[in-house]
Amino acid sequence: MQISLIRPDDWHLHLRDDDAMASVVAHTAERFARAIVMPNLKPPVTTTAMAMSYRERILAALPQNSDFTPLMTLYMTDHLSSDEVIAAKNSGIIKGIKLYPAGATTHSDAGVTDIRRCYPALETMQKEGLPLLIHAEVTDPDVDIFDREQVFIDRHLQPLTRDFPALPMVFEHITTKQAVDFVRANEGRLGATITVQHLLYNRNAMLVGGIRPHFYCLPILKRESHQRALIEAATSGESHFFLGTDSAPHPQHAKECACGCAGCYTAYAAIELYAELFEQVDALERLEGFASLFGPDFYGLPRNRETITLEKREWVAPESYQFGQDRVVPLGSGETISWQLVR
Ligand code: DOR
Ligand code: ZN
Repeated sequence: MQISLIRPDDWHLHLRDDDAMASVVAHTAERFARAIVMPNLKPPVTTTAMAMSYRERILAALPQNSDFTPLMTLYMTDHLSSDEVIAAKNSGIIKGIKLYPAGATTHSDAGVTDIRRCYPALETMQKEGLPLLIHAEVTDPDVDIFDREQVFIDRHLQPLTRDFPALPMVFEHITTKQAVDFVRANEGRLGATITVQHLLYNRNAMLVGGIRPHFYCLPILKRESHQRALIEAATSGESHFFLGTDSAPHPQHAKECACGCAGCYTAYAAIELYAELFEQVDALERLEGFASLFGPDFYGLPRNRETITLEKREWVAPESYQFGQDRVVPLGSGETISWQLVR
């Protein structure tokens, strides 16, 4: 069996930099036409000039004849100026500004300490129509890690949607039923990306029978009832839910250690894994909307014209891939994947 769909885009991706980036970018470029590239490098991508040079490095690392287009983002800080927002918008290459609460996740220490400090920049983004992409988790040590998303909704997303009614916002990598409900309640104003790991797994995959660090990402995998809400949302055909892998490669040794870092590497088989999930719930006909249509519609970008084909043919995910000087272990390594990209 084969299925064809309009070539998808990845609306949330970590590509890293230098050799590491060069060893993973082809996985994404083979499958996706475009990707929103996250700015959490070290140091973070905080200016248009930095984003332009990062974009050049990505283009230089692509395989020959690749027509993949990286869509760049800036990293929001307490000090982002309105002039920088306007420069970003006018650059034509920057499609959003990413808000990481300081300390929420990998390379977020330069993130926002108090969202009110960003209000001048947010006013300008609203005026310019430049989307705000949100890592929606509070960082307060007194909030349980499994509750950090829903607390962020009440404390920060509610006020943000009230204070910036015309600012396009993407609620990134949603992981809870509360997030699904919030996106629906704000229909037309809010988009949301959903990763494949949050669709395929719940926290049991990470914790039952031993700690499996390759399932550790942020926001963390939640309980099964949330997973079911996410599956229902992704396969609903509602246009506010679209594909964003949050594929986030780390060297093997940085994940398999006493304090392993957050991030699942899924780019190597991203669309195949989403197909697996959509097939499991008998919703393959809804995959194209989620993967290829709703994202560009939200961002006001043209839909892709070419198609890709997936074939139902089993293969085994490799134990690891080259990652700069290191190896990266993909999510699902050693497992059978039932779909293959036809090349
Ligand atoms: O698991 C994650 N990894 N979540 C994030 O928000 C960042 C990402 C990374 O950059 O590794
Ligand atoms: Zn991310």
